[in-house]
Amino acid sequence: MSKEVLKIAVAGLGTVGGGTVKLLQNHAAEIALRCGRAVEVSAVSALSKKGLDFDVSGYAWYDDAVEMAKSCDAHVLVELIGGSEGVAKKTVEAALNAGRHVVTANKALIAHHGAALAKLAEAKGVSLNYEAAVAGGIPVIKSIRESLAGNSITKIQGIMNGTCNYILTTMREEGLDFDVVLQDAQNLGYAEADPSFDIDGVDTAHKLAILTAVAFGVEINFDDMYIEGIRHVSATDIQFAEELGYRIKLLGVTSRHNGVVEQRVHPAMVPLKTPLARVEGVFNAVVIDGDEVDRIMQVGRGAGERPTASAVVADITDIARGIQLPTFSIPVGDLESVPTRSMSEHVGEYYVRLMLVDEPGVFADVAAVLRDNDVSMASMIQREREPGEPVPVVLTTHETKEANMMAALATIAAFDKVAEPPRLIRIECA
Ligand SMILES: NC(=O)c1ccc[n+]([C@@H]2O[C@H](COP(=O)([O-])OP(=O)(O)OC[C@H]3O[C@@H](n4cnc5c(N)ncnc54)[C@H](OP(=O)(O)O)[C@@H]3O)[C@@H](O)[C@H]2O)c1
Repeated sequence: MSKEVLKIAVAGLGTVGGGTVKLLQNHAAEIALRCGRAVEVSAVSALSKKGLDFDVSGYAWYDDAVEMAKSCDAHVLVELIGGSEGVAKKTVEAALNAGRHVVTANKALIAHHGAALAKLAEAKGVSLNYEAAVAGGIPVIKSIRESLAGNSITKIQGIMNGTCNYILTTMREEGLDFDVVLQDAQNLGYAEADPSFDIDGVDTAHKLAILTAVAFGVEINFDDMYIEGIRHVSATDIQFAEELGYRIKLLGVTSRHNGVVEQRVHPAMVPLKTPLARVEGVFNAVVIDGDEVDRIMQVGRGAGERPTASAVVADITDIARGIQLPTFSIPVGDLESVPTRSMSEHVGEYYVRLMLVDEPGVFADVAAVLRDNDVSMASMIQREREPGEPVPVVLTTHETKEANMMAALATIAAFDKVAEPPRLIRIECA
């Protein structure tokens, strides 16, 4: 093994940073054999050494991650601080400017600044790798950039937030409401103290924006994405979903047809017979449609110290082996700027739950509004009447344009016999 040791600087020693240092220590011999050279941490940076459960005495310590990125002796800077702005961004920029390869797990940074950073990496002739940023331990970026390089990818669907999938799974299994399960998830450490990024769909959207760019060769467009989280999903809707043969998942879906990209994040009814419906708990899954391969699906842990560190180290070993790929599959200058289809143009099937005061003629009025908006009903469930209580009426539709569905619901919501705002969940069949 005559090649020079590949030196690594790790910025941020929390869950993923600590996991990465430990993985590189524990698997040093195997990694050296696989890469034909040793891969060693030479420098680290964090706010403090307190609470670290591994030895950093052999590494150069930097209080300032940006300073480390500028002046350490490492070939690769691994950014595991987090956040789209501030020190994480400055650290990555400083490392690229210094001609160092960069590996990061920071989806927010790549989703918001990926194009500019990729341009800088390209200008400096170094890699910007981010496998861990999307679906943690699942090698989805590698699959798209390398394994599916012979395909035109048409669609990607994913369950890419373990916190949301845990909450939805537990709500179904235990018959509990969203707030109760969220609190439980926070107590167990599966949800952050401020869970909004996860449960409002932003985390999934960051990942989806990255997948769109790398799969379709288009510029990242986070701002035009439709994003809806899971706060409004109720135990009642989860029960109705089961009755109708579906399971509710927070999905990120990106597709490209006739040069137009559609990117959307929202809760979706997924048919029970599909493999995605059976991805439960904290697990993530990504389904990729390619014209030659047809469909592949990858399932695994989308977060956590060891699965995420596994993805970070995969990126490092690529660099150690001399594998260098364009950040988003093709040179930055060739990324296309394409229009995004607005959600009102989306065409799909829908689940709607109405709480109706059960009086003669009320449902006939609802049916008339649907007809007037070209919305065709596929099925209907009406619960037994409880004296004095509004009854849930659930209907599903055939394929319809979202704008028509929304117009119909706006009219129906204004009826005085409609006791609660209608609940709509999109059905995702393919
Ligand atoms: N956790 C996961 O399962 C997971 C999965 C996929 C991707 N990611 C991504 O991985 C990245 C890191 O996440 P994480 O969960 O490991 O976060 P974390 O546990 O909060 O760790 C962040 C680390 O950065 C340090 N830090 C904060 N400001 C710093 C500064 N100015 N200079 C140097 N170090 C600084 C923190 O120090 P203190 O502890 O002293 O504050 C902490 O050690 C994020 O981009 C996240 O989105 C995480």
